[in-house]
Amino acid sequence: MTSYNDILSSLKKEPRTWLITGVAGFIGSNLLEMLLDAKQNVVGLDNFSTGKLQNLEEALRSVQPAEQKRFQFLAGDIRNLATCRHACEKVDYVLHQAALGSVPKSVEDPIGSNEINVTGFLNMLQAARENKVRRFVYATSSAVYGDSPELPKVESRLGNPLSPYAVTKLINEFYADVFTRTYGMETIGLRYFNVFGPRQDPEGPYAAVIPRWVAAMIKNEPTVIYGDGSTSRDFCFVANVVQANILAATTGNPEALGKVFNVALNSNISLMELFEMLRYKLVRTFPHLQDYKPRYLDFRPGDIRHSQADITKASDLLGYAPTHSVEEGLNTALDWYRRSVITDADERSGLNTSPTFVGA
Ligand SMILES: NC(=O)c1ccc[n+]([C@@H]2O[C@H](COP(=O)([O-])OP(=O)(O)OC[C@H]3O[C@@H](n4cnc5c(N)ncnc54)[C@H](O)[C@@H]3O)[C@@H](O)[C@H]2O)c1
Repeated sequence: MTSYNDILSSLKKEPRTWLITGVAGFIGSNLLEMLLDAKQNVVGLDNFSTGKLQNLEEALRSVQPAEQKRFQFLAGDIRNLATCRHACEKVDYVLHQAALGSVPKSVEDPIGSNEINVTGFLNMLQAARENKVRRFVYATSSAVYGDSPELPKVESRLGNPLSPYAVTKLINEFYADVFTRTYGMETIGLRYFNVFGPRQDPEGPYAAVIPRWVAAMIKNEPTVIYGDGSTSRDFCFVANVVQANILAATTGNPEALGKVFNVALNSNISLMELFEMLRYKLVRTFPHLQDYKPRYLDFRPGDIRHSQADITKASDLLGYAPTHSVEEGLNTALDWYRRSVITDADERSGLNTSPTFVGA
């Protein structure tokens, strides 16, 4: 099987056109950075509902000016089919990331969640099909395992979904499967576990645990652990997710098509361990963390206790081989948080990312 580095080298020699939806978000902007660095042409679509212009500017700043010119940004909404059609024109690969990604937000607003994550997803699938894109790779989630207690999670064994968000991601998988079998479209779903890394938003009520805790620790605000701290997750650095996307888009293995894959590390870190890792790494720069302790509150109803991925399928069929352990990923992510939480990142680069509105 061709290695990830070989794939990146061959892409550089023969650039393709990629569409990233949700490009201004956390994962989307990391995909953008890697693809531009690999000299690809990238179209990005986003409506800035949770994404930020700052993420685009930062991704662009990290690549050479010649690579920046390979990026075209479309401000628009995946709930609009005309927008999706326009975005898919002359595209080789779609990496569909745009979604309302928060479980609690989906509980608050199941209709809004369905419109973006199901109708928006179907619009993208249909637009990609009409435009004959080579492959449609999409973000699904470990949330689809729902109440299944089995560990590690194997792709074929699901429980009952525990949130509207989980339902939307499961529906995405059904639609992609049907589009593969009915229309012969090449789709691959990537079930991300708990992804972390630079540009993951630390603010707001729906922030993920790592950025939320890091920001709180730096600002010497309280952090809360729900339960006794034994709850565990398979935290996955974003570079591993970027790798999985590029492998899924380019794999020549017919066995991989129409399938879904876990994307994580097969590791198991408890919230207590995570808290200590973060505190230990940050205390060197922030001495106020010397005696810093978390607050423990009751378990929240519906919270999944343990989550850990079996990654054999991605490794066997896609050649997925994570490059970053949690520890290595945290070092990079913390550098970024130290800079962004403290400096409030107000120095804009002046790069030309002025949005082109389509299909309004
Ligand atoms: N971060 C994780 O740990 C994780 C885990 C599992 C699955 N996922 C999935 O990965 C994908 C990316 O997540 P993320 O963490 O980067 O989230 P994010 O919120 O940072 O990015 C999502 C992006 O989609 C955009 N978007 C939302 N609705 C849109 C719409 N209607 N039209 C156009 N753009 C829209 C947002 O503005 C944002 O830029 C999502 O599909 C999410 O469900 C993420």
